[in-house]
Amino acid sequence: MYCAYDPALSWEHNCIRGPQFYGADPMVPAVPLKRFLGLPVCSRFGIAAGILPNSNWLLPYARRGFDLLTWKTVRSEARACYPLPNWVLVDDGGRADGPVTVMDRWEGDPREVSSAVCFGMPSFAPVQWRADIRWAAGQLLEGQLLIVSVVASPQPGWTLDQTADDYALCAGWAVESGAQVIEANLSCPNVCSAEGSLYCDVLSSVRVVERIRAAIGDVPLLLKLGVFPSDERMSEFLRSVNGIANGVTLVNCVTREVLRGDGVPVFGEQYRRAGVLGRGIHQATVSVVGRVRELICRHGLSLELAAVGGVSRVSDAEALFGAGADAVLCGSSPAFLPGLAVEMKQLHPEW
Ligand SMILES: Cc1cc2nc3c(=O)[nH]c(=O)nc-3n(C[C@H](O)[C@H](O)[C@H](O)COP(=O)(O)O)c2cc1C
Repeated sequence: MYCAYDPALSWEHNCIRGPQFYGADPMVPAVPLKRFLGLPVCSRFGIAAGILPNSNWLLPYARRGFDLLTWKTVRSEARACYPLPNWVLVDDGGRADGPVTVMDRWEGDPREVSSAVCFGMPSFAPVQWRADIRWAAGQLLEGQLLIVSVVASPQPGWTLDQTADDYALCAGWAVESGAQVIEANLSCPNVCSAEGSLYCDVLSSVRVVERIRAAIGDVPLLLKLGVFPSDERMSEFLRSVNGIANGVTLVNCVTREVLRGDGVPVFGEQYRRAGVLGRGIHQATVSVVGRVRELICRHGLSLELAAVGGVSRVSDAEALFGAGADAVLCGSSPAFLPGLAVEMKQLHPEW
C-alpha cells in the first residue's frame, strides 16, 4: 500500500526526506472563507499533530489543500525518537477493545486502515523548530492556519509548576515564531511520564492551561485530549478549562495492546499498550464528539471542538460534523490519501 511516510526508515530520515507523493500537484478547488476559533479559514478540515514534524512535510500538504495544519508536538529540548518500529498496520478483528495484531502488509482499501504508533514524542531542538516554524508560517496562503502542538518534558523531581512553566515556554516560543493557534498536548499514550495523561487530572490541567494562557495572550488555545475514564470526569474537565482555553481536540488514539502474530508486543514490553488509530477508532470518536457537544450545549460552554479519529472518507467527516464538531482533522490517513482535502472541497465547499 502507498504511504508518504516510510515506516521502515527512522523518523529523522523521514523528516529530512519529506513526504513521497506521486504525480503532479492536484488542482485545489477555490472555496469561500469560514471561521474557526475566530480566524478566517478556507476549510475547517486539516491534519492533526502527527505527520507534519517540519516544513518539509507541512508545506507539501498545505499545497494539497489541507487548511488546518498542526505541527507535530514540540518540546523545550531535543528528544530522540524511540527505536523502530514506530508505526505499524494492525488488525483489530472488528473489536473495539482488547489486543490488536500487527499486519505485515495491507492490500485492501487504504480507507479501511487501522494502525498503531509509538514515537515517544520526539522533538528537534527549539533553535531548529522555532526557525523552521517561522519559515513555514511565511509560506502559507490566506485561510490556512498554523497550529503548533506543544508538550512539557518533566524531569525527575519537577513540581507541577515547573511542568506548567515548560509547557508555557514552548507555547510562547511557538507564538513568537508565527503559530496562529497553540495546541497543548495533554495526552500521549506512548510516554510513561506525567505529560502523557495530564488531562485525567483536572486540577493539574487547569494550572497548566492557566500558565500557557498567561504566556500566549489572546492567541487561541486548543487542548488535545484522550478518552476520559468517565463522562463525569470529562464534564468536570470541560467546565474547568472553559474561559481559559478556546477549544478541545479529541481523540488522541485509543490505548490497546499491540502484539505481533506470535504474541510479542511489537513496541517492546514497556509499550505493550500503545496508541491505536485510524478506522478502528472512528465509531468511538463519533460517540465522544457527540457527548462533548452535548456537554458544551448543556453547560453553555464557549469551547470549540476539533474532532480527530479515523477520518478517511467524506462520510467520516460528515459523521463528525453531524455529531457537533466545529472542525475535522485527520491524523494518519493523509499519509495514505494525500488527495483527501481536494476530495472534501469538491463535495463540500461549505466545510
Ligand atoms: C505518525 C503519527 C504521529 C503522531 N504524533 C502525535 C503527536 O506528536 N502529538 C499528538 O498530539 N498526536 C500525535 N498523533 C496522534 C494524532 O494526532 C491523532 O490523534 C491520531 O492519529 C488519531 O487520528 P487518526 O485516526 O485520524 O489517525 C500522531 C499520529 C500519527 C499517525
